[in-house]
Amino acid sequence: MEVIKTIRDMQAMSRGFRLEGRSIGFVPTMGALHEGHLSLIRRARDECDVTVVSIFVNPTQFGPQEDFDRYPRDPEGDLKKLRPIGVDVVFMPEVQEMYPHGASITVDVGDIGRILCGKSRPGHFNGVATVVTKLFNIVMPDRAYFGQKDFQQSVIIKRLVRDLDFDIDIVVCPIVREPNGLAMSSRNLYLSDEERQAATILYKALKFGEEQITSNGIRDAVKVKREMERMIASEPLARIDYVEIVDTEELLPVDTIKGPVALCVAVWIGNTRLIDNMVIDTSGRTGTEPASGSQRDDINLKHPGVKSIGGFIEERLGGFMKKIKRLESFDLYNIVISEVEKSIISMVLRETKGNQLRASKLLGINRNTLRSKIKKLGIKIR
Ligand SMILES: Nc1ncnc2c1ncn2[C@@H]1O[C@H](COP(=O)(O)OP(=O)(O)OP(=O)(O)O)[C@@H](O)[C@H]1O
Ligand SMILES: [Mg+2]
Repeated sequence: MEVIKTIRDMQAMSRGFRLEGRSIGFVPTMGALHEGHLSLIRRARDECDVTVVSIFVNPTQFGPQEDFDRYPRDPEGDLKKLRPIGVDVVFMPEVQEMYPHGASITVDVGDIGRILCGKSRPGHFNGVATVVTKLFNIVMPDRAYFGQKDFQQSVIIKRLVRDLDFDIDIVVCPIVREPNGLAMSSRNLYLSDEERQAATILYKALKFGEEQITSNGIRDAVKVKREMERMIASEPLARIDYVEIVDTEELLPVDTIKGPVALCVAVWIGNTRLIDNMVIDTSGRTGTEPASGSQRDDINLKHPGVKSIGGFIEERLGGFMKKIKRLESFDLYNIVISEVEKSIISMVLRETKGNQLRASKLLGINRNTLRSKIKKLGIKIR
């Protein structure tokens, strides 16, 4: 594992990887690593030829009254956690290396940076977008991995890449939680035992909101929001920053819950501000990844979904491969391909409620081809 401190060395390293035709997976972090970070890193490692992790506590995304100085830092502990995972490069620049000219030219994310977390953290998302832009130019990744825990951030980064034409696929990974539901976060280190217990109210409120929508069929977003607020307010150590139910594209509050929505909360527990969210789609399933729209963007762009399906299949077949290695011949190719075909067709047919014309359009195959595949693969239409 290489540890690199300068922009020059990192760029040279990445240029080398690219010349060798190796794909670069990148995970930007602020260090004080926990299982949430590690899940992103493992995914990058599984999907890309080389994995680069950056550790940089970025001053420009902290407000003047915020916790930049006391933000948890543990470079030695972090490196210890990264070594066994199979990370190739850790990029750990000093502030002076990243901002030798102060904050000169910066990225402005516009209105989407002024809502939700942007309201109480003015300038935060411009700081994030600026440092991520710099890191993208330094690391030159093919794919970059972000956590859904920072949902607004993930939406803004996708937009940054779209609007400024970065040739990078953004992968948003599910929220990793403690057994009690608390979303993992470096700032959880600030919490006392009592506060840590109180902090579970965020997840409880999200689960409660989810239940109101999916089990009780409530579609009045304001009603769900009020009940979530009431629940959080019942926790004496909690002070609400915001509770919002927003669409997953523009992040604007909805009145009626129809398409995919994100339940987003930001709550002060003592002196620590925590955030959490849950994406729920109309059919009532909760999403670990932001639903439809954002993934559709991905697929339209460069088929990263296809790559990650490949990664998923490899992961699932890993154990199986060990078992069949000793066999001389096995019909693995046909078995896997027809299984994948069968499940994607069944899934799309379920989605279109058995409408084959719509399904063939969604799948991008001819209607007659679809019909013969349904027959050949023995797919049952409910
Ligand atoms: N619990 C989690 N599950 C999945 N991803 C996470 C989790 N926590 C953080 N991440 C992701 O890790 C990346 C780096 O985040 P960062 O270093 O700011 O950590 P953090 O835990 O969010 O810290 P903080 O609490 O200070 O905001 C981001 O993309 C973030 O969304
Ligand atoms: Mg963070």
